[in-house]
Amino acid sequence: MVTNDTVLDFLIDNLNNYISGQELSDKFDISRTAIWKKIKQLQNQGYDIQGKNGYGYKLVDNGKLNEKIIRKWLTVKDINFKLYDSIPSTNSEAKILCNNSDTTYPLVLISDQQTAGYGRYGRKFESPKNTGIYMSILLDNPKKEQMNPGLLTTAVSIAVSRTIKKLFNKSVQIKWVNDVLVDQKKICGILTEGTVDLETKSVSKIIIGIGINYATPLECFPLDLKDRVGSLIKLAQKYDISRNEFIAACLNEFFKIYQNYQAADFIEEYRKLSIVIGKEVRIKQGQSTITGVVKTIDKMGRLVLEDGQIFDSGEVTKIRY
Ligand code: BTN
Repeated sequence: MVTNDTVLDFLIDNLNNYISGQELSDKFDISRTAIWKKIKQLQNQGYDIQGKNGYGYKLVDNGKLNEKIIRKWLTVKDINFKLYDSIPSTNSEAKILCNNSDTTYPLVLISDQQTAGYGRYGRKFESPKNTGIYMSILLDNPKKEQMNPGLLTTAVSIAVSRTIKKLFNKSVQIKWVNDVLVDQKKICGILTEGTVDLETKSVSKIIIGIGINYATPLECFPLDLKDRVGSLIKLAQKYDISRNEFIAACLNEFFKIYQNYQAADFIEEYRKLSIVIGKEVRIKQGQSTITGVVKTIDKMGRLVLEDGQIFDSGEVTKIRY
């Protein structure tokens, strides 16, 4: 039986290209009127299908988040998705879902908007609708293997960096540990959280939250952030890449690294993009502030100072250039 989904899948395979009503009718062996009805129903479901006399129908990626379109670009298998129009936070939702026995892993949660998005140290993460990428990757650790959340955060920043290089031919900078910058402005923040199995004291679930100012106009940000925050909007427009395609490309990069992330093969690439190595920095860790020159980032993703101090967490609050 030809369902709406069968027609939709074919339109997605031919995303942004016209297919004539006759071709659809021949392919599915149903009348052109039946095709027209299915197209109408898909349009009513929210799919942007444009019809043009003499050309036929084309499905357009109009920027709305869509799982099927994400999957079109996805090369990694067995990923589960949950898409939302608006939720408080994909990370907090992931924390709820990991207590649910029905949850299947890995699960990627993506929301068009967050009403209570948060970053490190509980800071607010601006998450306006229609433009940004707010995504959490929820990973299981069924064999209770040793995990390294700090290294995973660095792995994600490399996945984002590779995606930007591949799709926009643009190099990024990384500020340890989790800020991805384009032209000195932060365009992405990453927050990795975990749940611990109290019996075995091992990490049982990992939640990697990724927030990207994608097609976000800078006017969306409060005045006090204007100097520090950037957006990929110009690059996304120039290369005509939708959020769906970017998300898929980023997940492709991440899962490629994740298979073997503990080997830290990507760390040399991370070091090359780091804006702190060789610089004098101020690091805030809890109540204390330490100043020193950064020697390197080690294979655990930790910041190493020339005086030998090593940090696996903290925030670089000042860099002397
Ligand atoms: C930071 O820069 O401090 C990290 C920001 C992390 C933001 C992302 S957006 C998706 C996920 N949900 C959240 O509430 N936070 C993370």
